[in-house]
Amino acid sequence: MRGRQDLTDFGREEVAMNEPFLTDVKTLRERARESIEQGPITRAYGADRARVVEVLNDALATELVCVLRYRRHYYTAQGLDAGPVADEFLAHANEEQDHADQIAMRITQLQGQPNFDPDGLALRSHSEYDASPGLLQMVKEDLVAERIAIESYTEIIKWLGDNDPTTRRMMEQILAVEEEHADDLLNFLQNMQG
Ligand SMILES: [Fe+2]
Ligand SMILES: [Fe+2]
Repeated sequence: MRGRQDLTDFGREEVAMNEPFLTDVKTLRERARESIEQGPITRAYGADRARVVEVLNDALATELVCVLRYRRHYYTAQGLDAGPVADEFLAHANEEQDHADQIAMRITQLQGQPNFDPDGLALRSHSEYDASPGLLQMVKEDLVAERIAIESYTEIIKWLGDNDPTTRRMMEQILAVEEEHADDLLNFLQNMQG
């Protein structure tokens, strides 16, 4: 049964491969040589590249502020003997750093400049830094920051649509992690308040 299914799928793939390209091979090959300095960006790229770079730089600032906020919360919470909450702050800080790295990499692939300038970082960021002294307030502020990131990344994903599938896929993967972060924080908040 499984073998028959595989054969069917294979047959379908063959039909798809025999269909003509939308642009003929000769033109595709010529275009690829013409604009070689654009690297991975071809005529098929459907988004406004400069605007995508701007939007990604705001997301980069958001991630960098999240790294700073979570790291600050980790070290402060350690002093409060916060145990698993402090560990979670550190895990989130490291994941936000990974997001920042992915976004910076994508900006360079789009032939843009990743903005790591500390001047104006907090203004470019969607989410805010927090210097609360208490653990409960830290968890609340982190949850608010995650909810801001979730909302803005969801909007970015919808805006990208089918025009830049690589950036959209990256943002979708990051969004899924932010949703996990928000869920972790809600659990801590409920335990602390319950
Ligand atoms: Fe993140
Ligand atoms: Fe997050």
